[in-house]
Amino acid sequence: MDKLIIEGAHKLQGEVRISGAKNAALPLIAATLLTPGWHVIHNVPDLRDTRTILALLETLGAEWKKEGTTLLINTDSLNKFEASYDLVKTMRASILVLGPLLARLGKARVSLPGGCAIGARPIDFHLQGLNNMGANLALEDGYVEASVVTRLMGGTVYFDIPSVTGTENILMAAVLAKGETVIKNAAREPEVTNLVDMLTSMGARIKGRDSDRLIIRGVKSLKPAVVTTIPDRIETGTYLIAVGTAGGEANVTHCNPAHLPALLEKLRASGLSIKESGDSILVSRQARVQSIDIKTQPYPGFPTDLQAQLMSLMSLANGLSVVSETIFENRFMHVAELKRMGAEIKINGNSAIIKGIEQLKGARVMATDLRASASLVVAGLAARGVTEISRIYHLERGYEDMVGKLQALGAKVHKEKE
Ligand code: UD1
Repeated sequence: MDKLIIEGAHKLQGEVRISGAKNAALPLIAATLLTPGWHVIHNVPDLRDTRTILALLETLGAEWKKEGTTLLINTDSLNKFEASYDLVKTMRASILVLGPLLARLGKARVSLPGGCAIGARPIDFHLQGLNNMGANLALEDGYVEASVVTRLMGGTVYFDIPSVTGTENILMAAVLAKGETVIKNAAREPEVTNLVDMLTSMGARIKGRDSDRLIIRGVKSLKPAVVTTIPDRIETGTYLIAVGTAGGEANVTHCNPAHLPALLEKLRASGLSIKESGDSILVSRQARVQSIDIKTQPYPGFPTDLQAQLMSLMSLANGLSVVSETIFENRFMHVAELKRMGAEIKINGNSAIIKGIEQLKGARVMATDLRASASLVVAGLAARGVTEISRIYHLERGYEDMVGKLQALGAKVHKEKE
């Protein structure tokens, strides 16, 4: 296992190029299961999670090749319809194959994800939605076995909470269903819109793009896709916050500032200078940041996937800040590790109260999940002394070449074998 060694308290300076979004690439890759042919997906990041979903597609009979950041996937000969426990347990998003397999083959067998580091994270909305579209569902040996007699039927699906992968699964199921499907309280994350655009380019009929009410009129067949993965807004946010926390000035390029409305407003309120220009954001810190409060919300609210990183920034802010997590329970695992670095944080239910201090101190800490790991990197970059982060495989699930990108910004960081 690798660990990350950071010698902190060096300002970041330079330019960082943002990769394609993990959470967009995963559903785009899953959607290639819908119809035979060679599909082309541009701007795909090379991550542990994208490799996992490609391994899953291979087990189903798909072929793929990569040319630079362009991924070509052929799904002519699907001969399996199962996502095994071994794959789903390493990546919950494997559940994204359920909708397309059911739509194309009329059957799917997908392992239940089970426990997860950031709370229970059930998939009941996915299942209820497919059930409303006429799928027969049974639970056997920890697997969801789903089937349809002839074809999925359009139906009305309402989410109690807007679920991102739930919306994506139902969308992919609905594009080939007979009749009209309405998704109410749909997730509006940009990654959902990226999928809507891909499906539309394949011949799907979808109304309500970017809204919380998606209306899908099923078609009989689709054509292969050519689509570009949107820039990773969470990676973008992580580098902006890293510069805010460690200090310095950086130009974050190949991103989409419009996908980060809540974060940019909050960072400006904290006193950072944020200048948007086309697909770049210039961030710099002139003085100590001021405390701000945040509450995670579905898009366009503040993303839960940036909550941990923002907490590292607030650990060094002037004043008290309150960070409330409303999307996932148990998403404060980074707090114990940040405290090892000197942060003053108290948890009260789903809120964390952070009293900003002048300086964090390097320590040995442990990565527990993807975004928690990112928060420890951010803190380590700012901390005096050396921070050693173990279990960094979590980071490699979602950040393309983080070490190389940080080194290019002047950070003193490297990987070592544990
Ligand atoms: C996606 C993202 C993840 C992000 C999250 C919230 C991907 C691959 N992952 O995860 O990075 O943190 O959105 O923005 O895109 N829920 C249920 N039942 C369900 C489904 C969800 O109760 O069947 C609840 C969840 O427990 C959570 C909320 O709905 O409280 C939102 O979760 P959801 O949007 O589904 O998260 P994911 O799609 O798993």
